[in-house]
Amino acid sequence: MIDKIKGHIADVESFNAKTKDEIEAFRIKYLGKKGILNEFFAEFKNVPNEEKKAFGQAINELKTSAQQKVNVLKEELENSQEEKGIYGDLTRPAEPVEIGSRHPISIVKNQITEIFSNIGFNVSEGPEMEDDWHNFTALNLPEYHPARDMQDTFFIQTDPDILLRTHTSSVQVRYMEENKPPIRTISPGRVFRNEAISARSHCIFHQVEGLYIDKDVSFADMKQTILYFTKQLFGKSKIRLRPSYFPFTEPSAEVDVYWGLETETDYRITKGTGWLEIMGCGMVDPNVLRNCNIDPQEYSGFAFGMGIERIAMLLYQIEDIRMFYENDLRFLEQFKSAL
Ligand code: PHE
Repeated sequence: MIDKIKGHIADVESFNAKTKDEIEAFRIKYLGKKGILNEFFAEFKNVPNEEKKAFGQAINELKTSAQQKVNVLKEELENSQEEKGIYGDLTRPAEPVEIGSRHPISIVKNQITEIFSNIGFNVSEGPEMEDDWHNFTALNLPEYHPARDMQDTFFIQTDPDILLRTHTSSVQVRYMEENKPPIRTISPGRVFRNEAISARSHCIFHQVEGLYIDKDVSFADMKQTILYFTKQLFGKSKIRLRPSYFPFTEPSAEVDVYWGLETETDYRITKGTGWLEIMGCGMVDPNVLRNCNIDPQEYSGFAFGMGIERIAMLLYQIEDIRMFYENDLRFLEQFKSAL
């Protein structure tokens, strides 16, 4: 019996095949359900005890060599030029390609950037760790100004001069210091505020702020620019500006978009008013221009700022801001089809 197995092993080792079918036939012959190996395995119980060990070793050897042979032949076949041709098997189903997805914050940031770059705004960036001058003082918020409390600030260690920026207006200060008007720039980026985390607010979020400075820039220019933006991003063509206050702009306004009251969701998100607040804006305060070495007698400009999370929540009907930072794949994978 063992000799018979040895004979098979020799056969297996010398076996060669050129086609898929031949290999498959070989596999079935040895390793198939009714194949030679299974026959030997079935025979095992009839083998006298003292021969069992040698017999067992021999069939295992046969099994391993048959399996190896099949693998080797298959691999050779796959590598052989004849079978592969230049393009391989054209009828083979394509490999599934896993596409990644962008984070919704990136998607919305890119959309906003694109809309403004179409009307000549460039993109500027700056450090997340800022000094007091760029985040506050240059923006008309001197020390002890009560409006500093509007933005609960994270300070770095014990140095009150170094902080995590509370808005990307700091980038605009840097941009004005380094560039001469005309200025058209938007500053997307991550900002930090020491706020309690809830479904509506987080201590880390993202903003896009915009700045436009030139000769004779008016409030009407600002309104038209913002209207163009809301049309492009939301497809909504009605906005209203409500008087507001920011230390760095005068006059200042809050922009609401008319969202409509067509669906129950519209009703809920606008609290029954149809209007949604989307950004703050205003004419750059002359003090800010002066702080950045721009002559307010010669130039004027407007600025605006919005939270990306808030806009993404509106566009994608996301109920909880914390979803953006949990990195739950079930959430992230839903944005695969977006750009
Ligand atoms: N910097 C303001 C904020 O973070 C937004 C803003 C920017 C308002 C520019 C007016 C003009 O809340």
